[in-house]
Order: sequence, then C-alpha cells, then structure tokens
Amino acid sequence: MRTDSPQTIYRKDYIPPSYLVETVELGFDLDPARTIVANRITLRHNPESKGSKNERDIVLHGEDIELVAIRLNGAELNPGQYILGANTLTIKKAPPNVVLEIESTCAPEKNTTLSGLYVSNGSFYTQCEAEGFRRITFFPDRPDVMAKFTVMLRADKEKYPVLLSNGNLVEQGDLDDGRHYAKWEDPFRKPSYLFALVAARLVCQEETFKLADGREALLQVWVEEGNLDKTDYAMQSLKNSIRWDEERWNLELDLDRFMIVAVGDFNMGAMENKGLNIFNTKFVLANPATATDVDYAGIEAVVGHEYFHNWTGNRVTCRDWFQLSLKEGLTVFRDQEFSADMIGTDSGRAVTRIDQVRTLRQAQFPEDAGPMAHPVRPDSFVEINNFYTVTVYEKGAEVVRMYQTLLGRDGFRKGMDLYFARHDEQAVTCDDFRAAMADANNRDLAQFERWYSQAGTPVVTASGEYDAATQRYVLTLAQRCPPTPGQPEKLPFHIPVAVGLLSGSGSDLPLNPDGDTTVVLELTEARQVFTFDGIPAAPIPSLLRDFSAPVVLEYPYTDEELLHLFRHDSDPVNRWEAGQRLAMARLLKLTAAVQAGEALDLDYTFVAAQRALLLDDTLDAAFREQALILPSESVIADQMEIVDPQAIHQARQFMRRTIAVILRTELLNAIAANQTPGEYSPDAVSAGKRGLKNLALGYLLAAPDAFTLDLARRQFDEATNMTDRAAALVALIHSGADVEEPLQAFYDQFKGEALVVDKWFAMQASAPTTDVARVRELMQHPAFTLRTPNRARSLLFSFANANPSQFHAKDGSGYEFWAEHVAKLDALNPQVASRFARSMDRWRRYAPELQANMRRGLEQVAGATKLSNDVMEVVSKALAN
Ligand code: TRP
Ligand code: ZN
Repeated sequence: MRTDSPQTIYRKDYIPPSYLVETVELGFDLDPARTIVANRITLRHNPESKGSKNERDIVLHGEDIELVAIRLNGAELNPGQYILGANTLTIKKAPPNVVLEIESTCAPEKNTTLSGLYVSNGSFYTQCEAEGFRRITFFPDRPDVMAKFTVMLRADKEKYPVLLSNGNLVEQGDLDDGRHYAKWEDPFRKPSYLFALVAARLVCQEETFKLADGREALLQVWVEEGNLDKTDYAMQSLKNSIRWDEERWNLELDLDRFMIVAVGDFNMGAMENKGLNIFNTKFVLANPATATDVDYAGIEAVVGHEYFHNWTGNRVTCRDWFQLSLKEGLTVFRDQEFSADMIGTDSGRAVTRIDQVRTLRQAQFPEDAGPMAHPVRPDSFVEINNFYTVTVYEKGAEVVRMYQTLLGRDGFRKGMDLYFARHDEQAVTCDDFRAAMADANNRDLAQFERWYSQAGTPVVTASGEYDAATQRYVLTLAQRCPPTPGQPEKLPFHIPVAVGLLSGSGSDLPLNPDGDTTVVLELTEARQVFTFDGIPAAPIPSLLRDFSAPVVLEYPYTDEELLHLFRHDSDPVNRWEAGQRLAMARLLKLTAAVQAGEALDLDYTFVAAQRALLLDDTLDAAFREQALILPSESVIADQMEIVDPQAIHQARQFMRRTIAVILRTELLNAIAANQTPGEYSPDAVSAGKRGLKNLALGYLLAAPDAFTLDLARRQFDEATNMTDRAAALVALIHSGADVEEPLQAFYDQFKGEALVVDKWFAMQASAPTTDVARVRELMQHPAFTLRTPNRARSLLFSFANANPSQFHAKDGSGYEFWAEHVAKLDALNPQVASRFARSMDRWRRYAPELQANMRRGLEQVAGATKLSNDVMEVVSKALAN
C-alpha cells in the first residue's frame, strides 16, 4: 500500500552508492507468523561517491518489516542515532568501515504480495527482484551493491524438511525442539535482488552433469510430492541449456550445484536467483497428460532464459533498474536463439521467428503506441515492477538481434566476448554493452543508441522503381516515428533492412557480384535511396526479411504481388507476412461491411492461395499452421481508426466460416494426414503436425456439422495427450455447441492438477460465448481464488485480453467488472493488479460511448482511497495520455 505520495525516479539522477557491502551474513528463524532475520553486514565507504551529497550516510531500505535492534561496530544504536523513515533506515555521518548488525521481523503468512519472503501452500519462498529484498531485511537494496552472502536457515524439520539458498551447502544438522538448520555460502558477489531461500516440503529429481571443463555439477529440480512425474522435461531443458551456453558462447556453469524450485504462487514466469532459480510451476511441470506442446516449448524457453541469466544478468549485472533491458533483452535474445537451435532446421527456426513477430505485434507495438510507451531504457518510473514489459523484454531482444544482423554472427560473438572480458562481476549499463559491440568490431554505433532512448515503433515506407533500359532497380526507404508521451519528435534510427528481390518466376535474384540474394541495407537517415544493378526485369521486393528490425513496413503491394510472395518468397517470415497482409486487407474490408450492414463476401483468390499453401507438402506442418492463422482480433483492432470489437469479431468469424466451408475436404484431409500416433513427444515436427491438425479442426468447427462435431468430440474423448484434448475442447466451446458435459468431464478428470484447472478457466473466459455474467459465475466456483496469480490470470486476464467482443460489451459491464477487480487484486497483490489494470491502456481508441464507460472505470480506480503506486502509475498515465 502507498505509504508516501508516489515519487517519480529519474535515470539522470543516478548517483553511486555511498557505501559498498563486502559481506552479508543472514540468519533466519523461519516462522510463518513471525520470522526473525538477523543480518550482519560489513560496509566500506565507496570512494566513487566522493563529492556527492550525503556521501557519508548509510542508507538502507526496509519495507513492511519491524526493526528489533541495530548495532554499529559492536555498539547498540538507540533511536536517536539513526533515522527510521517510511521505507528507509539512515545512519548519518558513518565511519569509513562499518559492521552493522540488524535484527528485524516479518510476517510471511500475511504477505500476499508474493514479493519478499512469503508462504505458498505451507512452505517458504522468496522473490527479491526488483526490490523485494528490502521486505526481508534492512539493506542497500540496489543492484550496484554486490556482496558475498552467507545464509543460515533454521526451521521446523517436520514441516520444512528442505532448506535451500544460493550457492553451496556448507553445513547442516539438527537443533532442539524439532528444528534443523542448513548453512549456505555463495562464492560469487551478487546484488541483493538475486538472493533466494526456500524452506519447504519438497522432493527432487537430480543428476550429476559433466561440464565442458570436466567438472561435475549437481542439477536438481524441486517440486511438491506428487509432481515428480512432471520434471523430466525441465531437467532435460536445463541440461540442453548448459550445453548450448558452452557451445555457442563458451560460457560455463560457474557453480557446483544448480537448483530449480517450482512454486504454485508466483507473480511472473521464473527468477534467476544465483544457483537457486525459483519458477512458476507453469514453467516446470509437464507430462503428456497435463501439458500442451505450447507448455513444453514454454518450459524449454524459460528454463533456458533463467539459466542464461547466470552470465547475462548475474555475473554481469545492471547498474540500476533503468538498465533492465541490458539483462532482459539480451537474455530473451539468448533464449530465442536457444529454442531455435534446439529445433535445428532453417524452417523450424523460421517458425520460432514468426512467433516472435506475432508477440511483438500483439503486445509490444500496442504498448509502444499507448499511454505506457517507454524507451527500451526508460528515463523515469514510479514503480519499477511496471517496467518488466514487452518493450524491455521483447523489443529489447530485437535491439540485441539487430547488432547481430549489423555485425554478423562472428562480429556479434566478438562483441559478447569483449563484454564479458571487460565487465565480469560488474554492474554496468546498456552503453557498456553497445561500446563492447562497437569496439570489438571497430564500428561506430553512436546512432544505434536511439533504439534505447526513443520510444515508439518506427514506420519505414518503401517504394521501388525499375528502369528496363539500365536494368537498374532503385529502392527508396524513408522512416518516421510517431510521437510518444514526453517525446513529441524523434531522430532517425539506425535500421537494418534485409532485402531480397524476386523475379517473375519467384526465384531470388542475385543482388551483388558475390551473388548474395539477401542484403542488409542500413537505413540511417530520414530518407535514403539504394540502387541495384544488373536486374533483368522488374522485380518484386521482399523487404525486412526475417523481420530484420522492429518496425512497421509500408509498401504499396498489389494483391498480385502479395500472392506472388506468399507462393514463392524464399524467406519464410516474409512468405508468412504476405499471407498476413492479404488476410488483413480483407478483414478490414469485412469489418467495414459489418459496420455498414452490408452483405459479407470473401474473394476466392484468397481462399485458393490458402488452399494451395495447406496442400503444399514440401512445407513443414508447423509453417503451414502459422500461415493459416488469421491475424488476431486485437491485431486487427490496431489497424482501425476507431475500434469496433464486435464488428471485428463478426468479420473474422465470417472469414473463418467461409474458409471452413470452402476448404472442408482439404481441412479434413489435413487432420487425417497429421495424426501423431504412438508415444507423445513434444519435438517440433510432432508438435507442428498437431498444430496444423488442431488448427484445421478449429476451422471446421467454425462452421460445425454433425460429422465435425463428432470428430472433435471423439478427439476430446480419445486423446492421449493434453494438446489434442484441450484443442478439441476449445474447438467445441468456440463452435457454440452445448459443452456443459465435456467441460464437466474435463474438470472432474483434472481437478487435482492446478495447471490444468487454470486451462479450464482460461478456455471458458476467452470464448466469445462467455459474457461478464458468466465470468462472475465462474468466480464463484470453489476452485477459483484471486490470491494465486495463475488462477487470477486464467480467468480475469483471459477475459479482459482474449475476449474483446465480450469485455467491450456496449453496456460497459466489462469495464465495471474490471474496475471492481483491479481494486480487489490491488488489496492483495499490487503487481498482479497493475498488470490487470493495463487491459484498459488503449481506451482512447474506442468509439465515444465505450470511451465514456472506460474513462469512468479508470477514474473510479484512480480515485480510490487506498491504491498501490503500481496501479496508480498505470491508471494515471492512461488518463493523462
Ligand atoms: N528476472 C525475471 C526474469 O525475467 C523476472 C521476474 C521474476 C520478476 N519475478 C519477478 C520481475 C518479480 C519483477 C517482479 O526471468
Ligand atoms: Zn529475465
């Protein structure tokens, strides 16, 4: 809850810490009602703070904890000798070398925020990023203070048989009164946000793993009893991650022991605490009966992500939280490359790339165009937790990818090597990363800085002219970037634009004497002209291949040109893109027709192109699935001047039904041809087949008949894996058929599996047949709770973000529901509430009647007497911009 009035923190105000911490010794007496934390820290004055204001003051952070006692160099301090503010403890004019001993208490069982030390299902867990450590003990809780940690844990042995912390276990044993202890030592200096402890009743899957240098490391995946049958994939992903980091980047595990712990109550995906990664169960637990292909892919990506943080985040960390993308953008890029390399084929890699583009368009472009728009490196924030965003993560990863596109794979690797050589065990900035890339390659990357400092999605417009007489093709590229809050004008970006030229027969034309068929143009000015010589006939340009930059590309393609690219482009991402453009143009026309009350019509050319693609057996099933997925309702909405969610829904449904009717035979054949009999395997080829098959089923059930309904029902009943079972149930729900019985059967079968119950709520919440009244009913279900973020997300977030035609009901009932539950969530967990609050970001884009209702909801939330800084920042920015 808000204790002071919200304060904006500015990047320009950074000053180095006045004191550095050398060692930290923590003692925990763990008790859910009152945990006692004893903290002994050795501090020394930081010479780099010389001359700055208050350079002799020790400032410790503390939040929601009770101070019991404090000693400085052995002498007890009384209240006159320190200043206890709302969230700080300050000791003025301290000597240069200080040992502080502080005793404090906290109440983990009352901590519903899931930040700091908390209880989940009767066990203790911590979450310290970004500023949770201060909720555990008084400490200079900032990432540029790096210290060596030793941790003593004491707890009841019966209730908490497993006691874990960072680094190595150095001692353990029994105490009086049925308690026991464990002492852990982390050999590496780290910022406090990487601290973790777990005291729990858990079991583990473990094995020893040989590292590249011959050392053996102990790997463990800890879960609640009963879940040991769901840890194989996480363990396999961990081993693959370790191997991949060795092979691709020459980065080794620096510990003898690496642990993953799964917890059911968690605000985010997972956390890279040194040697003790704590995970949302969603990204650990999987077996074929409970997890889908998408879940498996998520586990691989997140296990990789957290493991890769050990170098990009932990060994080299952030100087301050404005630099967050230094570790997150880079680590997302690394996990994306890992997932792509695990598939191994070029076409598999392209499918992962298409998924990344989809995420950007679905979530990051809207963020960049909305009231919360911020640069990859923000200039200010009220609550740092609000800046763990798709911009910092996914756009940040695109920025890292652009270095690789500009410098080449080898050049990028040289930059990485120099980055680690220079900055190992340091807390650094995004500029340091850019400097390593520039220096290792002798390149000037000064202008590239604008990707970090300017918000907004650049728009690149292209036009081409061919001159038959000189056999010359001239491509003109221009760029602009729309204004964002606080940034009315932008300067040109340094944009890599990968380009190919297709002949009339669909082949790639050689673009230079080396015969390259793709070249990377560097657009650095507002407008630039590029010429290609020796082009025998007017080509069709394939622009921004592999999505070489996070921009919107405008080119006046004709339908014929798009159909040509959709058929022939050797770049799979642009092949997919051509299909998306064809579909989008039609969806927008259909939406306008719905609004005008006109008859709806879909041209056969488009359906024929889809048909040809569906039937092209030379293409992977996974790619065909991607190419046949229509732009989502929210991506269509982004293309409209005034968003009309119901009209968009009707238009898209019409297109789905039409395709289903015309391609009925082909879709049925695709289902038959893409069965995956035998034992389930989550590999990309099998998953791709299931993906295409289930996409076809979804299409068919958009225009259901007795035969296809029965087909879906049989798949639901007979499925041997969750991918097929859930897909069949979703298709049935969306068909509009009566699904009470299969829904109940699904629930009864899986009611003991929390992650599957989440799916059960989510698939209902996102169905266009589910209105707000039904969501309120589902909230009364005994399995529903607002306290577990996964459960709240499965119902509330799915409704607000994935069911636009109902959430935006004309009577405003969706917005009333939203306002009511932002407040309810905020009282429990501000981080989760604030994420939910963002569902209203784009309120100014709706029709005036909807806008009025949305504004009322936002004002209601903003005017509440008790409101977290988290939610306040989001709603006040929404109202102001
Ligand atoms: N560093 C984590 C990751 O990206 C993110 C994270 C986990 C987090 N838990 C959090 C961020 C809580 C803020 C609050 O892997
Ligand atoms: Zn991360």
